[in-house]
Amino acid sequence: MIQVEGLSKRYARHVAVDNISFTVEKGDIVGFLGPNGAGKTTTMRILTCFMPPTAGSANVAGFDVFEQPEQVKRHIGYLPENPPVYPEMTVADYLMFVARLKQIPNSEIKSRTNSVMERCAVTDVRDKLIAKLSKGYRQRVGLAQAIIHNPEVLILDEPTSGLDPKQINETRELIKGLSGEHTIILSTHILPEVEAVCRNVIIINKGHVVATDSVEHLKTRAGGGGAVLVQVDTAGTADAQTVHQRLEQIPGVSKVLDRVKVGERFTFEVESLQGENSRADLARAIVHSGWNLLELKSSGVSLEAVFLEITGAPYQATTAPAVEEVLEGEEQ
Ligand SMILES: Nc1ncnc2c1ncn2[C@@H]1O[C@H](COP(=O)(O)OP(=O)(O)OP(=O)(O)O)[C@@H](O)[C@H]1O
Ligand SMILES: [Mg+2]
Repeated sequence: MIQVEGLSKRYARHVAVDNISFTVEKGDIVGFLGPNGAGKTTTMRILTCFMPPTAGSANVAGFDVFEQPEQVKRHIGYLPENPPVYPEMTVADYLMFVARLKQIPNSEIKSRTNSVMERCAVTDVRDKLIAKLSKGYRQRVGLAQAIIHNPEVLILDEPTSGLDPKQINETRELIKGLSGEHTIILSTHILPEVEAVCRNVIIINKGHVVATDSVEHLKTRAGGGGAVLVQVDTAGTADAQTVHQRLEQIPGVSKVLDRVKVGERFTFEVESLQGENSRADLARAIVHSGWNLLELKSSGVSLEAVFLEITGAPYQATTAPAVEEVLEGEEQ
């Protein structure tokens, strides 16, 4: 549904997007993820025919962005970084104006406007001037104008930017509800957003695509089986070092980090070799040693870890020791 081939964009001396290629399948919902300045908005402007590429090609909904911009525009809904709303119009008037622009038949304009206002939860402000709306409501009106003509492809540039947590959840739910019938690409630099909404992800950094993968698969790329936090109570039968050494001997364990000590309760972070999952062995070893296993949980190898790894910054496992006593000699 979206095919990008060797796309580049150069601004004066700066290459914002450098020879990127990717595909988005019909009905998919893809996160276009990257740090500030990565080239997300630039790519989206090209896909929506707001700007020509310097090189390469892009096909959206079956039309070439360079050769058939009118067709492309008819088949897409675009929420730009700054929603293109007219402050001096009321919400309902503005959406009816957009509906006319998008050539929705006269007989359907009212019903389409009403239904899109319902869907984007702006019905309660329908007669307010857009200038007087809060940023969150303005963003929702921006989303409403993007979907009013029921486009096949939605291109959303940071759709939840500036919203409060409740609005963020509502907007994510709305976007998720749109996938399937629409093909969606949404840009963000917020990782939980991708995890919450998207099936697949394209990671862009400094104008280069550095990963295209499913969210699930990307997460398992970091740290094999993932690190786990283990809390052990030895009831005075062993000190932290003894437990540490026992854990290190378990096959598949690559690293044990001392974390927190509260009385005779010790918490360790245990990393496994790539592809290994040592949880069952950890549990068995602790119980066989006569100690109590109080907790065994994932230390949260997240998409964030993968993202930082891929975009160049090293990932430091951080488990805040909170107010409890930290064991001496902790590895950094
Ligand atoms: N009109 C312009 N003229 C010159 N350089 C530009 C222009 N627009 C963007 N750039 C540069 O191109 C690069 C990519 O910018 P872009 O806006 O596409 O990034 P982005 O991934 O959307 O970032 P953000 O997360 O901050 O929105 C940046 O280095 C930016 O400074
Ligand atoms: Mg941007």
